[in-house]
Amino acid sequence: MRTEVCPSTTVDEELRAQLLRCWVDVTNAGGAVGLVPPVTADDVTPLLDQLVERAADGRAVLGVLRVDGAVAGFAVLSLSTGPLRRHWATVLRVQVHPALQGHGLGRVLMTGVHAIARDRGLEFLHLTVRGGTGIEKFYEGLGYREFGRMRGAIRVAEGDDRDEIHLTCRL
Ligand SMILES: CC(C)(COP(=O)(O)OP(=O)(O)OC[C@H]1O[C@@H](n2cnc3c(N)ncnc32)[C@H](O)[C@@H]1OP(=O)(O)O)[C@@H](O)C(=O)NCCC(=O)NCCS
Repeated sequence: MRTEVCPSTTVDEELRAQLLRCWVDVTNAGGAVGLVPPVTADDVTPLLDQLVERAADGRAVLGVLRVDGAVAGFAVLSLSTGPLRRHWATVLRVQVHPALQGHGLGRVLMTGVHAIARDRGLEFLHLTVRGGTGIEKFYEGLGYREFGRMRGAIRVAEGDDRDEIHLTCRL
């Protein structure tokens, strides 16, 4: 199995279709990547379009995980445009396709994202996790530490408010 994580700021139609398929499948498998299931491609498309636009404008970089050449997951480095915050970035939408989870690829993806961030001169990364998912354990294994929580910030459904957990990792 050959794995690679490549930085991408331009997204052609083929890559776009693979990212869309991944994001839909991850969400429908219960992944916490900005939406709640069930979703269709039409639900995810506006978020993906926004991401592609941000990447083209230099406000984001995608880290695309490929296994034997096929897209297996991705994550987004959301860059600051303000002059005072250019030494760090927020990581968004971290995901590995459900068919491939649990085999170390999430670690490969994040290690690759860290390398991309270092290459760009970033000093640390920030990300948030939806409370109640337990995914902070995945990030703690990669060197992230919790520094705060916004109580009830995420309304998954009426009567189901989750904390937003904030973590950071020095590169
Ligand atoms: C989170 C995600 C990217 C992890 O990818 P993965 O390929 O399944 O993870 P790995 O196999 O590389 O796991 C690496 C380590 O993290 C741990 N881990 C992975 N997912 C975990 C979870 N949900 N909760 C707790 N620990 C987890 C693994 O047990 C493993 O630990 P080990 O090194 O001690 O064996 C993947 O499960 C995913 O895409 N989930 C759905 C999308 C999502 O919710 N993303 C998080 C947004 S904040």
